[in-house]
Amino acid sequence: MNDLFSLAGRTALVTGGSRGIGLAIATELLRAGARVIICARRADELRAAVVTLAEHGPCDGIVADLSSIAGAQALIAAVAERTDRLDVLVNNAGATWGAPIDDLPESGWDKVMDLNVKAVHYLTAAALPLLRAAASAESPARVVNIGSIDGLAVPQAETYVYSASKAAVHQLTRQQAARLAREHILVNAIAPGIFESKMSAPILQTDEFAAIAMAMIPQRRVGRPEEIGGTVVYLASRAGGYTTGAVLVVDGGTAGAGSGL
Ligand SMILES: NC(=O)c1ccc[n+]([C@@H]2O[C@H](COP(=O)([O-])OP(=O)(O)OC[C@H]3O[C@@H](n4cnc5c(N)ncnc54)[C@H](OP(=O)(O)O)[C@@H]3O)[C@@H](O)[C@H]2O)c1
Repeated sequence: MNDLFSLAGRTALVTGGSRGIGLAIATELLRAGARVIICARRADELRAAVVTLAEHGPCDGIVADLSSIAGAQALIAAVAERTDRLDVLVNNAGATWGAPIDDLPESGWDKVMDLNVKAVHYLTAAALPLLRAAASAESPARVVNIGSIDGLAVPQAETYVYSASKAAVHQLTRQQAARLAREHILVNAIAPGIFESKMSAPILQTDEFAAIAMAMIPQRRVGRPEEIGGTVVYLASRAGGYTTGAVLVVDGGTAGAGSGL
């Protein structure tokens, strides 16, 4: 079992690894034996996360803003100074924007689409030389894109651009997977339900909203960090070697057995 899920000798890049879901993913990748590089915009939070993560294994942080193509390319250039191969790329960094249907500013639309969709395409494209260097038929390289159940089921909150961006991530994942399988690079998405983080705090820290959200989750609880991190470990490991183009739902039953959040 240990060998089946072991990531010993693998190098992974987790975007937005300084907190929330990205931090949970980085933690489990390290526990599985990988060397992990995380990135985020805020240097202080990034540094603190690297110190915490280093308790589990070799970890490094790079300050990066992925909202532009130049930012994505600069990150990969910095990664290439540290490693000549990338076994696992986790496109996790994301943003949301809530606004009534007739009051969504263009800046909000662009902010969410630039990070949640454009960066997933361009960062993956920029990382291809490093992913190709790690990829083989016996041990394919992996890309894991973090989508959302909001891209599968219509959410209650008015988060139009977020839901649209996450549906786009799921379809982008399928097309990347179709193209890259021949190069032994597997691409999958994870559609999380609700997990504690800065992004979900406006829901979970408001009693009324939290109660509504809990009523919509068949398991009646939020996800635990290891449940999202462990899913990435599975996809990155030998056990996940015959899975590509999939959208794995990790949501306590919300989208499948329930009705969305
Ligand atoms: N939490 C949930 O319930 C939930 C549910 C479904 C899907 N998701 C998805 O899971 C992913 C992580 O969400 P989260 O809840 O952990 O959010 P979060 O707590 O807000 O963390 C976002 C991370 O992304 C980084 N980031 C934000 N903008 C960036 C940029 N322009 N360039 C580089 N890094 C950037 C942040 O660091 P800086 O701010 O320092 O840059 C931080 O590390 C997102 O894709 C989100 O859509 C979350």
